[in-house]
Amino acid sequence: MQPRISSIKTPEHLSQTVTVKGWVDRRRDHGQLIFIDLRDRDGIVQVVVNAEQGELYEEAKKLRDEYCIRVTGQVVKREADLINPNLPSGTIEIIASELEIYSTSKVLPFQLHEEDDTPGEEIRLQYRYLDLRRKEMQDRIKLRYDVIDYIRSFMKERNYWEIETPILIKGTPEGSREYLVPSRLHPGQFFVLPQSPQQLKQLLMVSGMEKYFQIARCFRDEDQRGDRQPEFTQLDLEASFTSQKEITSMIEEMYLGIVKRFAKEQELLADPFPVLTYEEAMSNYGNDKPDLRIGMKIGDYSEIFKQVDSNIIQSILSKGGVVKGIKATQGANWFSRKVFDQLMEYLKQHGGQGLLYVQYNEDGISSPLSKFMSEEVIRSIKQSAQAETGDIVFMIAGENQVTLELLNVLRQEIARRSGLYKQVENQLAFCWVVDFPLFEKNAEGEITASHHPFTAPKKEDIALLDSDPFAIKSDAYDIVLNGVEIGGGSIRIHDKDLQRKVFQTLNFTEAEIEAKFGHILKAFEYGVPPHGGIAPGIDRLLMILTKTESIREVTAFPKNQSAKDLMLGAPSAMPSKQVREMGIQILE
Ligand code: AMO
Repeated sequence: MQPRISSIKTPEHLSQTVTVKGWVDRRRDHGQLIFIDLRDRDGIVQVVVNAEQGELYEEAKKLRDEYCIRVTGQVVKREADLINPNLPSGTIEIIASELEIYSTSKVLPFQLHEEDDTPGEEIRLQYRYLDLRRKEMQDRIKLRYDVIDYIRSFMKERNYWEIETPILIKGTPEGSREYLVPSRLHPGQFFVLPQSPQQLKQLLMVSGMEKYFQIARCFRDEDQRGDRQPEFTQLDLEASFTSQKEITSMIEEMYLGIVKRFAKEQELLADPFPVLTYEEAMSNYGNDKPDLRIGMKIGDYSEIFKQVDSNIIQSILSKGGVVKGIKATQGANWFSRKVFDQLMEYLKQHGGQGLLYVQYNEDGISSPLSKFMSEEVIRSIKQSAQAETGDIVFMIAGENQVTLELLNVLRQEIARRSGLYKQVENQLAFCWVVDFPLFEKNAEGEITASHHPFTAPKKEDIALLDSDPFAIKSDAYDIVLNGVEIGGGSIRIHDKDLQRKVFQTLNFTEAEIEAKFGHILKAFEYGVPPHGGIAPGIDRLLMILTKTESIREVTAFPKNQSAKDLMLGAPSAMPSKQVREMGIQILE
């Protein structure tokens, strides 16, 4: 009989002979008795061998941690004082009658049990197959599987078909650099790996598939961060004859289901999820992915500061600048002159130039501006910020957009320093951000699509395409969780002329439009249904559900921060013959 270790139970298995297979989790040699904790994927069971068992005992003496073995033996009840209440199989043990060593193991480069002393990431990634033996990693990978399984059933219940799309495709311009794959049969030509199946899912709508989803692998050659990997997984979906409301309601229901089933200690902050326009998000939080757990809405103090006798501030205000700020509740608990210097330094690294503050004390205020501010100004700021004794209002003066962005950086730093993040670590704050601008300027000042070029402009703004493209709002929506963008989507353009017009506004020449997008414009000549969709990122959601700092923690075989696979040693040089076959020459 071969039960799973975790399913060995009293009374069913008592006195029975069972065969179990797994790894030596721990071995304790008590002289006359050897105890082995045998581990498989789901559990641990204790195996006992005693000195009277001759050859078997000699074999058991050879066992070391992580040997892979088979044991056959009888299930018996443990002595009352040897019961381990922490193990599901803690009331029984197996008296071994057969032992087979499948394979031995070298001493591991790190311990699998030291929860408080997690090994360094580099070594974990080099030996990922060992790292994955650790319980916390097994739990995360299992959670990933369970969440994806739930998502699949959820989509199937709603009549979405799971359809695979190719990995070798033509570029989808979505803002990131693409991974190129040279073609041997067509030297000098390349496939690219999809940044997402965006165009393919739209073409599936042209195909009449109506409702599509896929657990899709996406590839982006971008600079790495904790929440970015060169390859990652989306729930990609698209529907015909749909609306923004239909898509967002369905996705909200899906997240609520996931939270209910899988978020153990975490509690949902708001249901239904708050909806913020892009403009509200930017003006209230300086960020299009606000972390609503930490609050600290941005307040506008420009009017009040018109009465402050400071040349610098008056000069900023007269040029159309602003004075905006945030309130640190009970900031006096952690704020000091030294902290002020550190905050200044931190803001400087983000391009900031100054920081103002007013701390409200029992007996007045502390502020570098105290000499310049009248009683009236001090009171007005307090009133406007609804500040109490012990609170600090931090303010920045400057150009509006820059000030908002700096205040966003500052609120996150304040949340770190004040211990606020720690206080809210068990909260889940979802929100929708909607009505994004259709276009934005990239770092070079050129016009680009804020989401991607297939996103529909709001109907009432289409007329602005020629006159004021940056004023156009789009039917795009993002879902944000705890300050992380966990998904994004939009209603798409389904009119070929409008699509062409958007490409033109993006300054593509007719030749470029033909070369890059000819296929989609051609397809759009054959009865395109109105359609829209979304792509929730699965890795980021799991990162938050597991309260980890990086999506590497929820990915079986991730790349490191410089986009390398340390276990496989990839990327790597290829034999020159193979490279030449591709028609490629490597420049030294
Ligand atoms: P977008 O580019 O916003 O939209 O991506 C959707 C979601 O995918 C996740 N994501 C990532 N996760 C890990 N590592 C990355 N490098 C990475 N990049 C993105 C995020 C993000 O919100 N085709 C459109 C969707 C659509 O319009 O339907 C798209 O891919 O969670």
